[in-house]
Amino acid sequence: MRITELTVDNFRNHTHTTLQLAPGVNVLVGPNGQGKTNLLEAIYLSCVGRGWRTSRDNEMVQFGKERALVQVTALKKFGTVNVAIQLGTGLKKSIAINQVPIAKVAELMGQINCIFFSPDELKLVKEAPADRRRFINIDLSQIDKSYFYALARYNKILQQRNAYLKDNQDPRELAIWDDQLIQQGNIIITKRQAFIQQLTPYVADKHKILTGGKEKITLTYETCANFAQELAAARERDLRLRTTTVGPHRDDLAIMINGQDVRVFGSQGQQRTVALSIKLAELDLFTTLTGERPILLLDDVFSELDSSRRARLLIAIADTQTIITATDVPTSGKIFTVNNGTVKA
Ligand SMILES: Nc1ncnc2c1ncn2[C@@H]1O[C@H](COP(=O)(O)OP(=O)(O)O)[C@@H](O)[C@H]1O
Ligand SMILES: [Mg+2]
Repeated sequence: MRITELTVDNFRNHTHTTLQLAPGVNVLVGPNGQGKTNLLEAIYLSCVGRGWRTSRDNEMVQFGKERALVQVTALKKFGTVNVAIQLGTGLKKSIAINQVPIAKVAELMGQINCIFFSPDELKLVKEAPADRRRFINIDLSQIDKSYFYALARYNKILQQRNAYLKDNQDPRELAIWDDQLIQQGNIIITKRQAFIQQLTPYVADKHKILTGGKEKITLTYETCANFAQELAAARERDLRLRTTTVGPHRDDLAIMINGQDVRVFGSQGQQRTVALSIKLAELDLFTTLTGERPILLLDDVFSELDSSRRARLLIAIADTQTIITATDVPTSGKIFTVNNGTVKA
């Protein structure tokens, strides 16, 4: 798929901006603080229904304005899709697909798919398990709506169970929450395991290309062997700590190179290459699973790569619509100059 047009109104520092995007590489160029990343965030919003840098919709509305509008038109194999999202202060977010309002964000999932890559994504490799779970959650939600529903239900039940643990100490009533938590939790665990298993060969392949075949990479989803049993076994501890201590909300992804844990022992360069391998692998897996190539958003990534990695990256994304932000023109492609919330093609 590819995006043909992006229009934003009162979105962060853009009062009104329209871009006609080209099929291949598009480059948003300009000094820092001009509104380049904001445009990637608008695209991201149209894909997953939430901001890239914030979970608070209001923050994306231009200071002093009441509402923001983001519209994206994309060309897919079987036609055109138009996504319009309106955000406002004191207003519920409203989303329309092809001019038809939708009731749930879940319906937006999978309409337009994107992969976002920024230097921040190094978190994926080196920071807390929550960052790795977030990556799995966002990916799986885009390719599998039932995952998104299960995750939303799980989080709600988890919240209720934790609220119960805070205020009450009657273990019998916990059983009500436990059954539901186990049911949704097992769906999440199964789907995450399958996803990581499917992603792994693609990651290995990309990593081989980026490193010249020197390193062997493996990914393993770290979870409970039996969620129901472990939840029961943790009951006393949960009551004591007043929170739920086991479950997919505590799981992690182990990333190993030649048998060593990259999360702990990897060098900065290795971690960067792993993050890039994972992102490129996501592109291929999405394509296999959905039949459509997602859009790649590269935020300030080029400046961080050496020239050989840049060249390999460009080869890897040859058939992918890519939107790159940079402070200078790093490559050929359609160039947009971004200056204080305005854009010139
Ligand atoms: N809600 C908002 N309203 C108006 N301006 C905003 C809002 N949120 C962020 N900005 C402005 O956007 C600019 C940063 O834009 P960004 O896209 O991150 O820049 P860059 O070109 O460096 O990627 C800053 O000047 C910031 O003040
Ligand atoms: Mg930026």
